[in-house]
Formats: sequence, C-alpha cells, structure tokens
Amino acid sequence: MNIILLGPPGAGKGTQARIIEKSYGMVQLSTGDMLRAAVAAGSEVGQRAKAVMESGGLVSDEIVIGIISDRIDEPDCAKGFILDGFPRTLGQAAALETLLQSKGIKLDAVIEMRVDDEKLVERITGRYTCGACGEGYHDTFRTPKVEGVCDNCGASDFKRRADDNEETLRARLLAYYKETSPLLGYYFAKDNLVSIDGMAEMSEVTNQLKSILNDGAN
Ligand code: AP5
Repeated sequence: MNIILLGPPGAGKGTQARIIEKSYGMVQLSTGDMLRAAVAAGSEVGQRAKAVMESGGLVSDEIVIGIISDRIDEPDCAKGFILDGFPRTLGQAAALETLLQSKGIKLDAVIEMRVDDEKLVERITGRYTCGACGEGYHDTFRTPKVEGVCDNCGASDFKRRADDNEETLRARLLAYYKETSPLLGYYFAKDNLVSIDGMAEMSEVTNQLKSILNDGAN
C-alpha cells in the first residue's frame, strides 16, 4: 500500500511511519529527513534548504518534488511507501498525482493525524532522537528503557533538532495552516481522506493506523 501521513509538526507522523515501516515492510519517505541529510552533507540542495528550515518556512516545491520523484523510482518503494511530510502544498499534491499516474502507482489513503496545538508544542519541545539510528524519544512521553541508551541500537549519542524550539515551531505551524491544511479539503474531495485521533497514546494511534491498513483503505 501507498499512503500519506498528513498532520502538523509534532502530530506523530515520523513516530508512526517508523513503526508501520517495521511492521508492514513499507518504506518511510520523509522529506524532512532527506532535507536534513542534504544539509548535513553540505550538498547544493542542503545549502539551499538550510536557512529556510531553520526559520520554520517551507523549502521550494521544485526541490522537494525533485527529491521525491527520484526516491520513488528506487526499487524498495515497490513494497509500498509512507509519505511523511510530503506533500505540503497544493502544488506538491498536484505534482505527486501526476508523478504517480505516470508511473502507474495507486495512492491508497491519505491519513490525517489530528492533534491540538497546545499538545504539539509540548511534543516538539520535548523531542530528541538517537544520533546513530534515528529512533525517536520524548522527555516525558517516550524515554529510553535504560537512561541514556537507545532501545533500538544501544548508542548513547542523542540529539535535538535545531528547529525544535517554541519560536520556530510557531513559524512551522503557521506554514502548516497556511500551505498544508488546504490539502485536507483537496484529499477529502478526492475521497482519499481518513482522519485518526493523534492525541491518543502512541500504541493506540498505531492501532488506528493498522486498522486502516488492514482494511486495505479504499
Ligand atoms: P519535517 O521533518 O517533516 O517536520 P514536521 O512536519 O514539522 O514534522 P515533525 O517531524 O516535527 O513531527 P512529526 O509529526 O513527525 O512528529 P514525531 O513523530 O517526531 O520537516 C522539517 C522542515 O523541513 C520543515 O519545516 C520544512 O522547512 C522542510 N520540509 C520538509 N518537508 C517539506 C516539504 N514537503 N515541502 C517543503 N518543506 C519541507 O513526534 C513528535 C514528538 O512527540 C516525539 O518526541 C514523539 O516521541 C512524541 N509523540 C509522538 N506521538 C505521540 C503520542 N501519540 N503521544 C505522546 N507523544 C507522542
């Protein structure tokens, strides 16, 4: 299956995409992760994206569409993919539709993860990840079983994102409501949209997603 996880920063898209990837063998395609890798590598794309990401704005459609178009062509995507953080504008959604049509790929569901704004601030400001494997944690909601040691790979090097502060989060939220939330209407009109309660505990959110995936969406 091929799905989109749609929701504001901190809704839990990345957390759930990684769980679904492990359970269903689908591939997580996170434009945020790909852009951060480009920034870390100092590539041309990374240099163009860095300041925009730090300010909480959106990187240009041209850049992210190019990245996704190349990535979807890789053989592992044939197992099914989870788009996490893409599309984020109506232009990206239209480009994705054209891209998938040209490759004969079906989009099975667009899943909206609903979370209140106050909760997003709490989630984002407490988030950190394993520097070695990328496993996600939270100061309150998900701490490692052994303090300072990653559950997944045993590393003890953790990091926080430069844009995970309250001020930048407000800019990211603004970008979400201005540019990305119109996609909810777009996919509703296309009869592709399913909404889940992203406020629930992580395992319960996973159950909601699995139930959609097990039903085969539409
Ligand atoms: P990106 O990396 O995509 O960030 P985002 O959309 O802001 O989403 P986040 O990664 O912040 O949140 P999430 O929903 O994945 O939450 P998570 O699961 O980690 O994008 C970053 C930047 O790159 C953008 O601002 C933009 O500049 C650029 N960019 C990326 N894609 C782009 C595009 N297509 N076009 C243009 N620009 C683009 O969860 C958050 C925390 O909450 C974690 O600590 C987690 O442990 C915890 N948590 C999760 N679920 C729960 C739960 N149910 N209960 C309690 N805690 C929970």
